[in-house]
Amino acid sequence: MEKLRMTSPDLTEANIDKLAELFPTVVTETLDADGNPQRAVDFDLLRQELSDHIVEGPQERYRLDWPGKRAAAFAANAPIAKTLRPVREESVDFDTTKNLFIEGDNLDALKLLQESYLGKVKMIYIDPPYNTGNDFVYHDDFAESTQAYVERSGQSDESGASLVANLETNGRFHSDWLSMLYPRLKLARNLLRDDGAIFISINDAELENLKHLGSEVFGAQNFVGTMIWAAGRKNDSRFISSSHEYIVCFARDLNRLRELGVNWKVRKKGLDDIYKAAAKFVKDAGGDYAAASVALKQWYKSLPDSDDAKRNKHYSRIDERGVFYADNISWPGGGGPKYEVLHPLTGRPVRIPSRGWLFQENAMRRQIQDGRVLFGEDENSVPTFKRYLRDTENEVAYSVFYQDGRAATKRLRSLMGSSVFDFPKDETVIQTLVEMVTEEDDLVLDFFAGSGTTAHSVYMANAVDGGNRKYIMVQLDEPVPTGSPAEKSGFKSISQISRERIRRAAEHVAGNAGMKDWDGGFRSFRVDSGNMTDTLREPDRVDQLDLSLFTSSVKEGRSAEDLLFQVLLDWGLEPSLSITKGVIGGREVFFVDEDAVAACFADELPPEVVREIARRQPLRAVFRDDGFDSDAARINAEQIFREVSPSTEVKAI
Ligand SMILES: C[S@@+](CC[C@H](N)C(=O)[O-])C[C@H]1O[C@@H](n2cnc3c(N)ncnc32)[C@H](O)[C@@H]1O
Repeated sequence: MEKLRMTSPDLTEANIDKLAELFPTVVTETLDADGNPQRAVDFDLLRQELSDHIVEGPQERYRLDWPGKRAAAFAANAPIAKTLRPVREESVDFDTTKNLFIEGDNLDALKLLQESYLGKVKMIYIDPPYNTGNDFVYHDDFAESTQAYVERSGQSDESGASLVANLETNGRFHSDWLSMLYPRLKLARNLLRDDGAIFISINDAELENLKHLGSEVFGAQNFVGTMIWAAGRKNDSRFISSSHEYIVCFARDLNRLRELGVNWKVRKKGLDDIYKAAAKFVKDAGGDYAAASVALKQWYKSLPDSDDAKRNKHYSRIDERGVFYADNISWPGGGGPKYEVLHPLTGRPVRIPSRGWLFQENAMRRQIQDGRVLFGEDENSVPTFKRYLRDTENEVAYSVFYQDGRAATKRLRSLMGSSVFDFPKDETVIQTLVEMVTEEDDLVLDFFAGSGTTAHSVYMANAVDGGNRKYIMVQLDEPVPTGSPAEKSGFKSISQISRERIRRAAEHVAGNAGMKDWDGGFRSFRVDSGNMTDTLREPDRVDQLDLSLFTSSVKEGRSAEDLLFQVLLDWGLEPSLSITKGVIGGREVFFVDEDAVAACFADELPPEVVREIARRQPLRAVFRDDGFDSDAARINAEQIFREVSPSTEVKAI
């Protein structure tokens, strides 16, 4: 019985697979340090394949480099013997929800999710720790001391003597920051759908580096744009008061988005205020639309320039259909159709626009009958087209927008009862991005979840259109600062705050929108060491003959459900799949997504239990290797499957 790997995938191996697909001849075999055969890439041959399109060694080229980059790339590819352990008591609707909350380092989480979510995430939003020189939590192996950095970057010798006049230790922070983000972005890219996109919040300190890094990981051709979020004056600077931050966006494949004809649109802001004002003016004027239109114009004038509604001030007329503006009715660019249109009162032909009419003759007739063409007093003026606000509610998002930076903090404080998290992002801004990019069943990922704003935004987006978007949040088990309001409120870690915020957000959103039968839950997981005592074994090194050496044993305290989720990840199945538990012959058996997996981790498995599981014909079945009394029992189990359900993939852990 073949064994499951029980580690995250080795991405270097995956890269070799990709190269082999393109250039089969360059993948060959060599011996590793222990004399075992391993696959390797013949660089000489690869060079030949690329003829003179290569750059090597000290040759100049355009690239982003920093001390630690190589180690960071290595960190992205190396497999880990870890798993996601379910935490039922921290979850909401564990059995039915499709949302995930993962507590742990996102580098681990991203590795563990690689196969299950490969190419499945529509949108990633992250707000990584900004580089203020010391404020990001950074536990990777290649984190180093200032002294080590100064030495390695050639600014001092081994004795610590300075080799340059001014030590530039700030570079270390840039390097650390880049080394932190690089492997995470590389892993995140694999999870994006080909029509997906990533949005990354950032401030001035790392904007340039982030854009360079993004170009390296996602490809400069996939850079979509940078949004500037003006958040209000801070008055905390002597020279330039920086009152904005950025959201940098890369598509997974911008060409693919173009091919698919995708347009990202957002609902214009301030519309509801306009509709409300217009309705009031019509009522006040007793149904006199001309008078109501005058009042609407006055109302726009009275608004401050910063008011969102004012952007739509040209929509200043009202008729029985609603608010509209008198748009040009000529063919854009010229060369449009020219034909006679008669004025409805004078019966004489009106002036024809020099660029021709916007519509062909039949379509124009329909528009006139429908009352959508606005004629002048007589035939001497060119008519206009009534463009209704209701028909043009969506627009392409502006690269610059204003959203008061303090509002979200206030709302979070009121939701949580105290200031448990500093500088949360504004859930309405993230909601706008979610609505712009995702459709109703899409998956959204945030692996720097913080207070869980993105999950809140996904709930809000679902409340608007009744959608069923799902999310994955990842947040480190970072302790809250001693003496902080969060600690005083009883929170021990940011992940705890995050889960509680998401719980409250679900209630709040459901309460406001009157939602019933919706997914306001999440399955909670914790990144932990693997469940098996022998998981230090190297992946893909277990062949049939070795099996007897690996009588697998489960670590103490690990439950059958722990094993089940590790198996799901190993098989590249989503840990959000539905799970039902049954009892067969006195043994606990899990069925995942009905027939995707049948799993039984019980001891002393009798053949009748195996036979009954096989009879249900699952696509996959998994048992504990030491769940069988003997080698003969294990072989017998395989035989049973061959007879009863030959297409089931049977594995052991
Ligand atoms: C700037 S905050 C995100 C705030 C979030 N957007 C919000 O609105 O609440 C960054 C978060 O990333 C978390 N973090 C930092 N390093 C991490 C890591 N390696 N894995 C997971 N989370 C991490 C920090 O604990 C912090 O909560």
